[in-house]
Parts: sequence; C-alpha cells; structure tokens
Amino acid sequence: MSEETGLSFRFESMNIYDKVMEHGFIVDYLKSDCELISKYIWATIGSTLDLDTLPSRLPSLPPERYRVFPKEALVKDNIASASFLCPSSEQLFEAKLSRAKLLSLKNSTKPIWHFEVEPESSVRYLPGDAFGIFVENDSQLVSLLLERLKINDPLYMKDTKSVSSVTVEVFSALRKQFDLFSTPKKSLLRLLGEFCVDDREERALLLLSSDIGRDTYRTLFIRGRVSLLDILMAFPSCEPPLQRVLDCLPFLTPRYYSASSCYESDSRKIDFVFSLVHYPIFSEKKWMRRGHATGVFDRICNQLEKWPKHNVRLTIFHHPSLYFHPPDNLQIPYLMICAGTGLAPFRGFVEARRRHYEKWLSMEDGLAAVEGELVERTFVGPIYLFFGCRKIGEFQDYLEEIETDISFLPDSKLFVCYSRESGDVKYVQDLLKKQAEQVCNLIFSHSSSCIYVCGDGANMAKGVQESLIDIFVNEHIFGNKEDAKNFMKELSDERRYVQDIWFWG
Ligand SMILES: Cc1cc2nc3c(=O)[nH]c(=O)nc-3n(C[C@H](O)[C@H](O)[C@H](O)COP(=O)(O)OP(=O)(O)OC[C@H]3O[C@@H](n4cnc5c(N)ncnc54)[C@H](O)[C@@H]3O)c2cc1C
Ligand SMILES: NC(=O)c1ccc[n+]([C@@H]2O[C@H](COP(=O)([O-])OP(=O)(O)OC[C@H]3O[C@@H](n4cnc5c(N)ncnc54)[C@H](OP(=O)(O)O)[C@@H]3O)[C@@H](O)[C@H]2O)c1
Repeated sequence: MSEETGLSFRFESMNIYDKVMEHGFIVDYLKSDCELISKYIWATIGSTLDLDTLPSRLPSLPPERYRVFPKEALVKDNIASASFLCPSSEQLFEAKLSRAKLLSLKNSTKPIWHFEVEPESSVRYLPGDAFGIFVENDSQLVSLLLERLKINDPLYMKDTKSVSSVTVEVFSALRKQFDLFSTPKKSLLRLLGEFCVDDREERALLLLSSDIGRDTYRTLFIRGRVSLLDILMAFPSCEPPLQRVLDCLPFLTPRYYSASSCYESDSRKIDFVFSLVHYPIFSEKKWMRRGHATGVFDRICNQLEKWPKHNVRLTIFHHPSLYFHPPDNLQIPYLMICAGTGLAPFRGFVEARRRHYEKWLSMEDGLAAVEGELVERTFVGPIYLFFGCRKIGEFQDYLEEIETDISFLPDSKLFVCYSRESGDVKYVQDLLKKQAEQVCNLIFSHSSSCIYVCGDGANMAKGVQESLIDIFVNEHIFGNKEDAKNFMKELSDERRYVQDIWFWG
C-alpha cells in the first residue's frame, strides 16, 4: 500500500480539522507567542491607564444562559452532538471537498485557492449566488482554552434558552457553536475582572471594560484584535467559571463564498475561490494570525492537492443573492468589474452567457426567442470583464477559461491589469479609465445595460465608482460630476449597477 493510500485510508475515520493537525501543521495560536503578547498587553495598559483610578460606568454582566455540569450529573444519556447554529432557517447540507488547485503563484505570500465541493444532493443556484460554509474551531485551540480554565474532565451543557433543551458535550459545542476569536465584549472583560484573584489584574480588566478604558479597549481589541485566549494568558490569576464565559461568547458564524461555477454546466459540483486572510495583532507584522475559515481551508487545500483521496466534508448552505445576477436576455450588454477573488462569480456569469449563446445559435433560422420576442442573432449584446490582480500568472486557469468563453461571445472582451508588475495601469479602476471610450460605448449602447462590481468594498469598489463618474464626465456624457453621480444612483435604483462587495474590519 502506498504511503498516500495509507494516509487517505486512515483519514477516513478522522475529523477534517484533526486530519490537518496530524500532518504537523501547528495551531495558529502559538503558546510561545503568549508571553510576548502578554507583555505587549501590559505595556499598553501601563502606558494608557492609571491602575489607581476607580472604574466608572461598568457594563452590566450578561444574563445567565448556559448550565454546565459533569457526566455524573447527567439525568439520562440523551447527549446530542453539537451542531452548527445556522442563521434563519437555511437548510444545511454536507458536501465533499473534492478538488483544490492553487491559483496564486507558488511563492506568493497570499495563497489563492480554487476548490470544488460535491453536495450530497444537487442544489440549484444561479450565477452570483453565494454559499455559507461553517468551519469548526481547531481542536487544539479548544483544548488550550479548557486547559487554561482548569477543566480536565469532560463536561456537558444545556442552553436554558433553547426549546429543544438537548445536552451537548462542552468540547464539541466550543468547536461548533462559539466564536473564540471575535472581539471580546466589554461585559466579558468585566466578568473576567470579577474573577481575578490578583488586585492589579482585576483593576486593569474592570478599567478596560469601563468608560475610562475606552481608548485602551479600542487599541487592544478593535485595532489590536486581541482575543479571549490572549487575555486569559495575560491575566493568569483570572479563573472564571466556564458557563459564565460561554454566556459572553457570540455564536460562530458561517463564512460566505461566491460560487465560481455554473449550475447548468455541472450540477454535481460547486466551485469556489478564496484567498488566505492574514491579520496582524496590534498592527505588528510579527504577530500574524490566519483568518478562521481561510486558515483551515488553506491547510485542507494543501493536503488535498497532495493527497486527492482525502474524504473531507464541509457543512454548507445556499445563500441566494437578491439582485447580483446576470440578465437572462442575451441582447443586454453588461460590464463586470472586479479584483482578486472578486473574479469568482464572474466565471459563472461568463460560462452561463456562453451556454445561453450556444443554445441560441443552435436554434433554427437565425432567429431566436428572447423574452418571448423573435430577434435576429446579430443583436447579441457584448460583455466586458475588467479584472485586476497582483502578478502575471495568478488566476491563470480562470483567465484562460474566461478568455475562451469571451472570445466566443460576439464583441465581448477581457481586460486585465497587474498591480505588482511594471506598467502604466495598476488597479482595475485605472484600466476602466484607459478604456473609457469602450466603457461608455457599452453602457450607452442599450437602455438596459448593466454594471456589476465584485470584491473588496472598502477600497476597490469605491475606486471603481469614482472612476466611472470621472469617465462619464471626461467622455462628455455628463457636464459635471453631480450629474454623473445622479446617473449612477439611477442605475443603482434600477438594479443596473449592482455591487456584491465585502467590507472587513
Ligand atoms: C456574499 C459574500 C461572498 C463572499 N465571497 C467570497 C469569495 O468568493 N472568496 C473570498 O475569498 N471571500 C469571500 N467573501 C469573504 C468571506 O466570507 C470571508 O469573510 C473571508 O474569506 C475571511 O474569512 P476568515 O474566516 O478567514 O477571516 P476572519 O477570521 O473572519 O477574519 C479575521 C480577521 O481578518 C479581517 N479580515 C477579514 N477579511 C479580510 C480581508 N480580505 N483582508 C484583510 N483582513 C480581513 C477580519 O476583520 C478579522 O479581523 C465573501 C463574503 C460575502 C459576504
Ligand atoms: N461576493 C463578495 O462579496 C466577494 C466575493 C469574492 C471576494 N470577496 C472579497 O473581496 C476581497 C478581495 O480580496 P483578495 O485577497 O482576493 O484581493 P487582493 O489580493 O487583496 O487584491 C486584489 C487586487 O486588488 C488590488 N487592490 C488593492 N487596493 C486596491 C484599490 N484601492 N483599488 C483597486 N484595486 C486594489 C491589489 O493590489 P495590491 O495588493 O498590489 O495593492 C490586487 O492587485 C476580499 O475581501 C474577499 O473576501 C467578496
């Protein structure tokens, strides 16, 4: 038996995250960093707070919600396994992660992965739709938290607010239901303060939770992204009861990913793209952490590329988009603008358009039905895709596929720019300006033409909007920026300027 087969066989019986750990990938939260991070937390507190001051206006403590008890206190053996807590009434289903392919360059500091999942039953989705994916907390992290709270034996818990009143194991609930890396709330800091044995630690935490500590709270938790575990490590005398900590923790949320595939082309699988998120603690590059979901996906994809037989399963749900869908009518021209992984949905848009066009071509007489009317083939509207990424070679597979589809569609075009290669165009909004005349021709060639934008909402989408406004003025479509802005507003109201963008922070 080859090593690979042996491994995949062994992996069958293991939880996906443990599989990843097995192969020597260390947990992101490194114990060795704790000492340094603790020093930093105390240095920040020391330089911004006077620990002799009395805290004022403390936040209220959270109401009691969970009941935690040992095995001996179990009434019956009716223990359920903890399940992910899904927003609204979405239907969760299991999907096998069947293939992964690196889309970034091999030596890139920011890996970008394409991955495919095979849902247990087919899910009909439209180009532009996203899926919610749940990712458990790492088992080593949960163990670390329990160890720090001096919990050595298995514990069970009940949510007194839940109608089902099931009993679940604390360990599995901590993996599936609680967000351990969200910003600690002020009520949690107050609670932790009240359970400190050391006076100095107690005062520091109470001040941090109070009005007086507002700026320090922002520095450490909002900008610094210090987590519950960092705090517990930095305040060793703090010994809160587990159930009160649980009372303060938010639920683990799913992460959303746009489908990059087209249902009509292959209904058995759904494709996605993600880029690994790294974020600094205290804005210091030496303490970088990985995003919760993309950190796990990156490890799994690395494994899957090497051992394609892994049986890795994800829990996902369909998250349809309201308006971010390409027009059904082949006559309507549209513009797609994106950067980085914002390319994901447009791979589906282009594929769907090509399929639609092929179908149309196969109809008889050079005439085809478009929204009930017979129109001539020559009236097919062009589509343009404007895309920006860092370097030549990134997203190569996607760009090749898209280019093939686009070259098949009448008058359609793909424009690409690279931000980290020499050249006169850096970002996608600059590329739009360079092609200003073509951009205007497409938008004003049809009364229903559309503009779609996808990707980072904070910078790219803003830059794109400003660029379009400048283009409309410079190309003399409108006499001034105010009129151009009003036009963009009209397009947006008519759902002809649709953004699917993501703000993080
Ligand atoms: C409808 C929708 C569709 C989406 N589609 C995709 C997609 O196709 N591909 C994709 O990669 N992402 C997509 N996203 C974003 C995705 O859902 C996650 O938010 C992202 O992958 C980060 O998740 P994480 O758990 O790794 O990071 P988290 O653990 O949630 O974040 C860790 C820290 O990093 C910060 N952060 C989060 N994202 C970034 C970022 N991009 N850059 C810098 N810091 C960041 C957070 O504020 C937080 O402090 C989409 C979001 C939405 C709402
Ligand atoms: N449906 C959705 O909401 C959806 C779908 C997919 C992705 N997303 C989100 O979109 C974001 C894309 O991130 P990513 O990691 O894929 O991209 P990225 O690698 O960070 O950036 C992609 C490209 O955009 C450039 N860029 C940086 N600042 C820009 C600006 N102000 N204007 C225009 N371009 C700019 C980058 O250049 P430099 O880095 O060289 O400066 C790079 O060339 C993520 O936040 C992801 O979660 C959302």
